[in-house]
Amino acid sequence: MKKFFAFAAGCAVLAALCAFGAAPSYAAGKEIVVYFSATGTTREAAETLAKMRGADLWEIVPEQPYTAEDLNYHNDASRSNSEQRDESARPAIAGGVRSLDGYDVVYAGYPIWWGNMPKIMYTFFDGCDLSGKTIAPFCTSGGSGVSASVSTIKELEPQAKVTEGLRVRNGERDFAAWLKETGLAR
Ligand SMILES: Cc1cc2nc3c(=O)[nH]c(=O)nc-3n(C[C@H](O)[C@H](O)[C@H](O)COP(=O)(O)O)c2cc1C
Repeated sequence: MKKFFAFAAGCAVLAALCAFGAAPSYAAGKEIVVYFSATGTTREAAETLAKMRGADLWEIVPEQPYTAEDLNYHNDASRSNSEQRDESARPAIAGGVRSLDGYDVVYAGYPIWWGNMPKIMYTFFDGCDLSGKTIAPFCTSGGSGVSASVSTIKELEPQAKVTEGLRVRNGERDFAAWLKETGLAR
Protein backbone atom coordinates (compact mmCIF):
# COMPACT_ATOMS: atom_id res chain seq x y z
CA MET A 1 0.00 0.00 0.00
CA LYS A 2 2.82 2.38 0.98
CA LYS A 3 4.51 1.61 -2.33
CA PHE A 4 1.29 2.38 -4.19
CA PHE A 5 0.98 5.80 -2.51
CA ALA A 6 4.62 6.61 -3.26
CA PHE A 7 4.05 5.66 -6.90
CA ALA A 8 0.84 7.75 -7.14
CA ALA A 9 2.52 10.75 -5.52
CA GLY A 10 5.43 10.41 -7.96
CA CYS A 11 3.03 10.41 -10.90
CA ALA A 12 1.22 13.49 -9.58
CA VAL A 13 4.49 15.40 -9.17
CA LEU A 14 5.60 14.38 -12.67
CA ALA A 15 2.27 15.45 -14.19
CA ALA A 16 2.44 18.81 -12.41
CA LEU A 17 6.02 19.38 -13.61
CA CYS A 18 5.05 18.55 -17.18
CA ALA A 19 2.09 20.91 -17.10
CA PHE A 20 4.19 23.70 -15.58
CA GLY A 21 7.11 23.37 -17.97
CA ALA A 22 5.09 22.83 -21.13
CA ALA A 23 5.43 25.50 -23.81
CA PRO A 24 2.13 26.78 -25.23
CA SER A 25 1.17 24.72 -28.22
CA TYR A 26 0.63 26.47 -31.54
CA ALA A 27 -0.49 25.11 -34.86
CA ALA A 28 2.27 23.20 -36.63
CA GLY A 29 1.75 23.29 -40.36
CA LYS A 30 2.79 25.07 -43.50
CA GLU A 31 4.94 28.08 -42.70
CA ILE A 32 5.95 31.32 -44.42
CA VAL A 33 8.33 34.08 -43.44
CA VAL A 34 6.96 37.47 -44.53
CA TYR A 35 9.27 40.44 -44.09
CA PHE A 36 10.03 44.02 -44.95
CA SER A 37 13.58 45.31 -44.88
CA ALA A 38 14.72 48.78 -45.93
CA THR A 39 18.48 48.32 -45.53
CA GLY A 40 19.04 44.55 -45.47
CA THR A 41 19.33 43.68 -41.76
CA THR A 42 15.87 42.16 -41.43
CA ARG A 43 16.29 40.45 -44.81
CA GLU A 44 19.32 38.58 -43.51
CA ALA A 45 17.41 37.51 -40.39
CA ALA A 46 14.37 36.45 -42.43
CA GLU A 47 16.48 34.35 -44.76
CA THR A 48 18.15 32.65 -41.80
CA LEU A 49 14.78 31.81 -40.25
CA ALA A 50 13.27 30.55 -43.52
CA LYS A 51 16.25 28.25 -43.99
CA MET A 52 16.01 26.95 -40.42
CA ARG A 53 12.30 26.20 -40.86
CA GLY A 54 12.25 25.12 -44.49
CA ALA A 55 9.59 27.83 -44.78
CA ASP A 56 8.54 29.86 -47.82
CA LEU A 57 9.75 33.44 -47.97
CA TRP A 58 7.93 36.57 -49.12
CA GLU A 59 9.61 39.95 -49.15
CA ILE A 60 7.24 42.90 -48.88
CA VAL A 61 8.60 45.35 -51.45
CA PRO A 62 7.29 48.92 -51.43
CA GLU A 63 5.73 50.08 -54.69
CA GLN A 64 7.75 53.24 -54.22
CA PRO A 65 11.21 52.22 -52.94
CA TYR A 66 12.64 54.08 -49.95
CA THR A 67 15.63 56.26 -50.82
CA ALA A 68 18.33 57.10 -48.26
CA GLU A 69 16.69 60.51 -47.80
CA ASP A 70 13.29 58.85 -47.26
CA LEU A 71 14.87 56.91 -44.38
CA ASN A 72 16.56 59.90 -42.80
CA TYR A 73 15.05 59.99 -39.33
CA HIS A 74 16.99 63.13 -38.46
CA ASN A 75 14.80 64.97 -40.93
CA ASP A 76 11.36 65.58 -39.47
CA ALA A 77 9.88 65.92 -42.93
CA SER A 78 11.40 62.75 -44.40
CA ARG A 79 9.01 60.19 -45.93
CA SER A 80 9.51 57.58 -43.20
CA ASN A 81 9.00 60.11 -40.41
CA SER A 82 5.88 61.52 -42.07
CA GLU A 83 4.43 58.03 -42.57
CA GLN A 84 5.15 56.96 -38.99
CA ARG A 85 3.41 60.08 -37.68
CA ASP A 86 0.37 59.55 -39.91
CA GLU A 87 -2.15 57.11 -38.36
CA SER A 88 -3.74 56.45 -41.73
CA ALA A 89 -0.57 56.01 -43.80
CA ARG A 90 -0.59 52.68 -45.67
CA PRO A 91 2.26 52.70 -48.22
CA ALA A 92 1.48 50.48 -51.20
CA ILE A 93 3.10 47.07 -51.61
CA ALA A 94 4.46 46.24 -55.07
CA GLY A 95 2.13 43.63 -56.57
CA GLY A 96 -0.37 44.12 -53.72
CA VAL A 97 -0.97 41.89 -50.72
CA ARG A 98 -0.87 38.22 -51.62
CA SER A 99 -3.13 35.62 -50.07
CA LEU A 100 -1.66 33.49 -47.33
CA ASP A 101 -4.42 30.87 -47.44
CA GLY A 102 -2.92 27.47 -46.85
CA TYR A 103 -0.32 28.68 -44.35
CA ASP A 104 -0.75 27.94 -40.66
CA VAL A 105 2.20 29.86 -39.29
CA VAL A 106 3.21 33.33 -40.49
CA TYR A 107 6.53 34.68 -39.25
CA ALA A 108 6.42 38.47 -39.68
CA GLY A 109 9.74 40.34 -39.72
CA TYR A 110 10.40 44.10 -39.87
CA PRO A 111 12.75 46.83 -38.62
CA ILE A 112 11.53 49.00 -35.78
CA TRP A 113 10.73 52.53 -36.90
CA TRP A 114 9.92 54.99 -34.18
CA GLY A 115 9.24 52.24 -31.67
CA ASN A 116 6.83 50.24 -33.85
CA MET A 117 6.44 48.59 -37.26
CA PRO A 118 6.96 50.55 -40.47
CA LYS A 119 3.55 51.53 -41.84
CA ILE A 120 3.97 49.20 -44.82
CA MET A 121 3.53 46.32 -42.36
CA TYR A 122 0.16 47.83 -41.43
CA THR A 123 -0.69 47.69 -45.15
CA PHE A 124 0.12 43.99 -45.05
CA PHE A 125 -1.91 43.22 -41.92
CA ASP A 126 -4.85 45.35 -43.13
CA GLY A 127 -4.92 43.55 -46.44
CA CYS A 128 -4.43 40.00 -45.23
CA ASP A 129 -6.89 38.13 -43.05
CA LEU A 130 -4.80 35.99 -40.73
CA SER A 131 -7.70 34.78 -38.56
CA GLY A 132 -7.02 31.41 -37.00
CA LYS A 133 -3.36 31.44 -38.01
CA THR A 134 -0.34 31.73 -35.76
CA ILE A 135 1.68 34.94 -36.19
CA ALA A 136 5.23 34.94 -34.85
CA PRO A 137 6.67 38.49 -34.95
CA PHE A 138 10.38 39.31 -35.06
CA CYS A 139 12.21 42.59 -35.55
CA THR A 140 15.63 44.12 -35.89
CA SER A 141 16.36 47.51 -34.38
CA GLY A 142 19.02 49.84 -33.08
CA GLY A 143 17.97 49.02 -29.52
CA SER A 144 14.19 49.30 -29.18
CA GLY A 145 12.29 46.21 -28.14
CA VAL A 146 9.62 44.31 -30.03
CA SER A 147 6.73 44.50 -27.56
CA ALA A 148 4.93 47.63 -28.84
CA SER A 149 4.79 46.14 -32.34
CA VAL A 150 3.46 42.84 -30.98
CA SER A 151 0.61 44.75 -29.31
CA THR A 152 -0.11 46.49 -32.62
CA ILE A 153 -0.24 43.16 -34.47
CA LYS A 154 -2.69 41.83 -31.86
CA GLU A 155 -4.92 44.85 -32.49
CA LEU A 156 -4.71 44.46 -36.27
CA GLU A 157 -5.27 40.69 -36.21
CA PRO A 158 -7.59 40.01 -33.25
CA GLN A 159 -8.56 36.54 -34.51
CA ALA A 160 -4.98 35.28 -34.86
CA LYS A 161 -2.78 33.64 -32.25
CA VAL A 162 0.18 35.96 -31.79
CA THR A 163 3.27 34.49 -30.13
CA GLU A 164 5.83 36.29 -28.06
CA GLY A 165 7.97 38.54 -30.27
CA LEU A 166 11.71 38.44 -30.82
CA ARG A 167 14.26 41.19 -31.35
CA VAL A 168 16.96 39.46 -33.37
CA ARG A 169 20.54 40.22 -32.51
CA ASN A 170 22.35 36.91 -33.01
CA GLY A 171 20.51 35.32 -35.90
CA GLU A 172 20.23 31.57 -35.67
CA ARG A 173 21.01 31.38 -31.95
CA ASP A 174 18.21 33.81 -31.02
CA PHE A 175 15.75 32.12 -33.37
CA ALA A 176 16.48 28.67 -31.95
CA ALA A 177 15.80 29.81 -28.36
CA TRP A 178 12.67 31.74 -29.38
CA LEU A 179 11.21 28.86 -31.38
CA LYS A 180 11.63 26.66 -28.34
CA GLU A 181 10.01 29.22 -26.01
CA THR A 182 7.04 29.79 -28.29
CA GLY A 183 6.43 26.10 -28.81
CA LEU A 184 7.07 26.39 -32.55
CA ALA A 185 10.25 24.30 -32.56
CA ARG A 186 9.89 20.85 -33.99
C1 LIG B 1 12.98 55.74 -40.12
C2 LIG B 1 13.71 54.87 -39.13
C3 LIG B 1 13.30 54.86 -37.81
C4 LIG B 1 13.96 54.04 -36.88
N1 LIG B 1 13.50 54.02 -35.59
C5 LIG B 1 14.11 53.21 -34.69
C6 LIG B 1 13.63 53.13 -33.36
O1 LIG B 1 12.63 53.76 -32.96
N2 LIG B 1 14.28 52.34 -32.49
C7 LIG B 1 15.39 51.61 -32.87
O2 LIG B 1 15.93 50.91 -32.05
N3 LIG B 1 15.85 51.65 -34.14
C8 LIG B 1 15.23 52.41 -35.06
N4 LIG B 1 15.69 52.45 -36.35
C9 LIG B 1 16.83 51.56 -36.73
C10 LIG B 1 16.33 50.28 -37.43
O3 LIG B 1 15.30 49.64 -36.70
C11 LIG B 1 17.48 49.26 -37.60
O4 LIG B 1 18.55 49.86 -38.22
C12 LIG B 1 16.99 48.03 -38.36
O5 LIG B 1 17.83 46.94 -38.06
C13 LIG B 1 16.99 48.25 -39.85
O6 LIG B 1 16.49 47.08 -40.50
P1 LIG B 1 16.51 46.90 -42.08
O7 LIG B 1 17.97 46.95 -42.50
O8 LIG B 1 15.95 45.54 -42.30
O9 LIG B 1 15.72 47.99 -42.68
C14 LIG B 1 15.06 53.24 -37.28
C15 LIG B 1 15.48 53.29 -38.63
C16 LIG B 1 14.81 54.08 -39.54
C17 LIG B 1 15.26 54.10 -40.98
